[in-house]
Amino acid sequence: MAQKKPLPTLFGVLGYPAKHSLSPRMHNAAFKALKINARYRIFEVEPSRLKAFFASLSRRGIAGLNVTIPYKQSVFPFLRSVTEEAAMIGAVNTIKVSANGLRGYNTDGEGFLRHLIDDLSFDPRNRNIAVLGAGGASRAVCVYLCKAKPRSIAIFNRDRSKTIDLVHLLNMHNTGIEFIAADTVAHLGLEKADLLVNTTSVGMNETDPSLVDPSYLRPGMLVYDLVYSRKSTRLLGDAGNKGCRTANGLGMLLYQGMAAFKIWTGRTPPKKIMARSLGL
Ligand code: ATR
Repeated sequence: MAQKKPLPTLFGVLGYPAKHSLSPRMHNAAFKALKINARYRIFEVEPSRLKAFFASLSRRGIAGLNVTIPYKQSVFPFLRSVTEEAAMIGAVNTIKVSANGLRGYNTDGEGFLRHLIDDLSFDPRNRNIAVLGAGGASRAVCVYLCKAKPRSIAIFNRDRSKTIDLVHLLNMHNTGIEFIAADTVAHLGLEKADLLVNTTSVGMNETDPSLVDPSYLRPGMLVYDLVYSRKSTRLLGDAGNKGCRTANGLGMLLYQGMAAFKIWTGRTPPKKIMARSLGL
């Protein structure tokens, strides 16, 4: 008699909405390539069902999750532990389920830094960095950039109180890095910036403007826009025209997925296959 194949281990992305996530194709391609009996699917869960969803994890055989909008903060009460970085960032995008309970991670910042260093050959050490935005994505990016010891990080956000809070947090945990709470884009010090990162959602829609006047962009500057729903944004278009190197958020998506894959499976993620699944 043929032996029954064991049920696949389940992984997935938790969000609301989550329909358009690119993560299923990336992780399913990786499971297939490494012959791991696992599936990755979308868990689109309404806020009123979140508690019931977490109560059902082991019954459903779920071993790991990615977390996306709007749950990166609201999952904290369901976790037994979180990494130091996730606690500092205040957001979790990856959960590992084990017999000891749920542990939360933030692989967004790590993904950004690894993409920057490994693929774009940009070493942030002693560099001047300018960041647009002070929300969850910015916190992840800034916390991880600090690990690479840049000379300075200047941050501009529409809501200045968030900039002040983020600069305060970064100052508490780091020495030897200058943090600047810029009150306008003009005060970001772009004339000496080596890297400009857009962490805001401005650019997701085709008609979105750029937060940066093109006159601030110079060749020699790397301009990184975390937006990946569109290949290019107004900011990246302007940067390309000015002779800057540019990167969109697909690389960060790939590397955060690779980090999550490693946390869940302990295996080296098949980078080429995962990249290809994203069209990279
Ligand atoms: P994420 O987790 O993706 O960072 P978030 O925490 O909601 O999401 O942060 C969104 C970021 O985009 C914030 O920096 C936000 O600025 P405010 O804090 O001032 O709201 C920024 N953002 C969104 N829409 C914007 C707009 N039209 N102009 C400027 N910044 C905008």
